[in-house]
Amino acid sequence: MDTAIKLIVNGKEETVVTDPARSLLDVLREDLGLTGAKYGCGEGLCGACTVLMDGKRVLSCATPVAKADKKEITTIEGLAAGDSLHPVQKAFLEEGAIQCGYCTPGMILSTVALLREKPHPTDEQIIEWMNGNICRCNGYPKIMNAIRRAAGSDRR
Ligand code: FES
Ligand code: FES
Repeated sequence: MDTAIKLIVNGKEETVVTDPARSLLDVLREDLGLTGAKYGCGEGLCGACTVLMDGKRVLSCATPVAKADKKEITTIEGLAAGDSLHPVQKAFLEEGAIQCGYCTPGMILSTVALLREKPHPTDEQIIEWMNGNICRCNGYPKIMNAIRRAAGSDRR
């Protein structure tokens, strides 16, 4: 049965009346027009659909929208402050860590979550944390550099 679900998406309150079992990804993309989070595998295995829920990363394809009720959701569309890119977005741009771009929103949001928990991660911690985010273009070296840059590290 359809249910009213309240979401705070990128700071804006939204109410959707829908099947509570639908995925958060589907609601973001199809109902709210936020297509930054991508559908990759649809099974929680690739990280393309990563968003933040109350500041923690979640795989939105594997999150029923009911679980997001009254939660704050941040998608890639909500990361920049007006015309100013978020530092992690800037770092990805400056390192050229984007090829086709399909994995990029998920990579960036995972990095934001990582740096909130561990502002100065080691390479091993970065690799472990980013393990669930897959880049089919195999752009991992540049993605690593972007994450190091965002963390303020000069290790190259
Ligand atoms: S689309 Fe969600 S993990 Fe792949
Ligand atoms: S840049 Fe193409 S999948 Fe990562």
